[in-house]
Formats: sequence, C-alpha cells, structure tokens
Amino acid sequence: MKGIVLAGGAGTRLYPLTIAVSKQLLPVYDKPMIYYPISVLMLAGIREILIITTPEDQDSFKKLLGDGSHLGCSFQYTIQEHPNGLAEAFILGENFIGTDKVALILGDNIFYGNGLSTMLQKLTSVDGGAIFAYPVRDPERFGVVTFDKDKIATSIEEKPEKPKSNYAVPGLYFYDNDVIEIAKTIQPSSRGEKEITTLNQVYLNKGKLSVGVMSRGMSWFDTGTVDSLDDATEFIRVLQRNQSTMISCLEEIAYKMGWITYDMLKKSVKRYGKGNYAQYIMTL
Ligand code: DAU
Repeated sequence: MKGIVLAGGAGTRLYPLTIAVSKQLLPVYDKPMIYYPISVLMLAGIREILIITTPEDQDSFKKLLGDGSHLGCSFQYTIQEHPNGLAEAFILGENFIGTDKVALILGDNIFYGNGLSTMLQKLTSVDGGAIFAYPVRDPERFGVVTFDKDKIATSIEEKPEKPKSNYAVPGLYFYDNDVIEIAKTIQPSSRGEKEITTLNQVYLNKGKLSVGVMSRGMSWFDTGTVDSLDDATEFIRVLQRNQSTMISCLEEIAYKMGWITYDMLKKSVKRYGKGNYAQYIMTL
C-alpha cells in the first residue's frame, strides 16, 4: 500500500500564523505538525509516501523531510496548484499510486492511542474503502456519518448544518485502486471542492465502505483552528512528560520497524542539534 499526506491548503482559519508558513510546518509542541501524520502512515507499515503541498511550500517540506531514505522510506513530492479539495489527491497521485492500494492522511490530523498500529496494519489489504468515525462535540465542523442499529454506516454528509449524529469522520482514509477512477468522476461541491465525502458516498452506495468507530483509547485531533492546535500541543506535551516517551519520533518508528540500522539511528541525532528530540533518540 502507498501513502499520501495532503499538506497543501491555505490554512486561512489560522491566519496570521499561516500567512508566511505552511500550516503543516507549524509546531505541535516539539515537532513540526507533519511529523504526526507521517508517523501514522509509518506505523501502518507504509514506506512509500507522497507529500502533496502548495507550490510555494514544497522546498520547505523537502528541506525538512528529504527523500525519506534516512527513515528507510521513500518520500516523493507533488504540487497542488489550488486547494481544489481532498479527493484531488488521488488524481495528482495517480502515477505514484500505480496499481496499488492507497492510504490518505490529512497533514493537520493527529492520531494517538493504544492499538493504533495493529488497527491500521489490518487495513492495508482493504477491499473497497475503509474510514473511521469518532464521537465529537462539534460534528458540524466535519464529515458526519450515521449508523443503523447494527452499526452499519447509512449516510455521510460534509459539514451538515444539522448533524444527524455526533460521529465525525477523521482525516485518515484507506482505499483500493478504484479510488483513482472514482476521484475523476467527482464534481466540485458548492464550496468548489472535490470532497472526500462525495468519494466516500460512492463507496457507501456500492456497499464497499467499512466505517470503524474509534475506541475510547484513541485520541484524534484536527489542528485546523487555533484552539484545536493549542489542544493538540497541550495533549502531546502532557503525555510525553508523564510517560517519558515521545509521540511520533520518526526515527524511533523507523528503527523499531526494522527499516534503519542502529548506526543510522545514532547518526540521525546529529541532525537535531541539542534539543529534546535529539536527546530522546540518544535514550533509545
Ligand atoms: O479533519 C477531518 C475533516 O477533514 C473531515 O471530517 C472532512 O470530511 C474533510 O472534508 C476535512 O475537512 P476540513 O474542513 O478540516 O478540511 P480542510 O480544508 O481543513 O483541509 C484538511 C487538510 O488538507 C489541511 O491540512 C489542508 C489540506 N488540504 C485541503 C484542501 C481542501 C489540501 O492539501 N488541499 C486541499 O485542496
């Protein structure tokens, strides 16, 4: 399975923070935001990752992440000229995906919790589409999914004014190869975007969409607003301090997955100067 991180968009809800800097490069406590979604793909066992950015931000992402070889991964880059919607990722990524299945994660989404890797690794052989549902207080900000009494998904709507449930769809999606052709058929919504929700509706109507409710032990943050960004920062800070472990240390994940050697892990410290991140790698 291939992976895509969608890290474009204008980030207007965070202005002035994102006037000169890409949202996905902003800090979430002690590391750039994009480290978190990349770590999720890596935990799923995905090593070939396409990073989609705006034209003006691509060089900064390349400077930060390179070609991925230091993590035993392969990172490629593609530009999205305009924020035409999440489903465009599969059209821009058509050659990269080839004949494989693909996972998409939004560059401003953070996931953390017990059993995450196992849950994700199961989905890399998905037939159809697989998405999640997560109970929230403000579903009108998200894609919203409803279920029947047997917990089978019955509808998905994008940012409904009157949500029919409090289950939001987090920005992590797994699809078979049909997604490329389906994405091409999607017409822009009233806000002018090729919506991922429309794509999910196509899979749902075909009876090929599985929707898993994330358990209580799982935490999910969409860091697209100042408050949610601040919440995520606080969450990472408190958890890391309590547990003396680091969330989304990419080098640690690569090492534990067996993708880099002990020597490569040791050498990676040099890149990170004298800060906490470097010290944490030293403890490994
Ligand atoms: O976070 C989950 C939600 O993400 C889902 O529940 C919604 O169904 C989905 O539409 C999306 O809603 P948002 O309003 O949060 O999407 P936003 O426009 O904030 O974009 C999400 C990320 O994708 C963000 O990091 C910017 C990036 N992006 C967005 C668009 C529209 C792109 O790279 N290109 C784009 O064209």
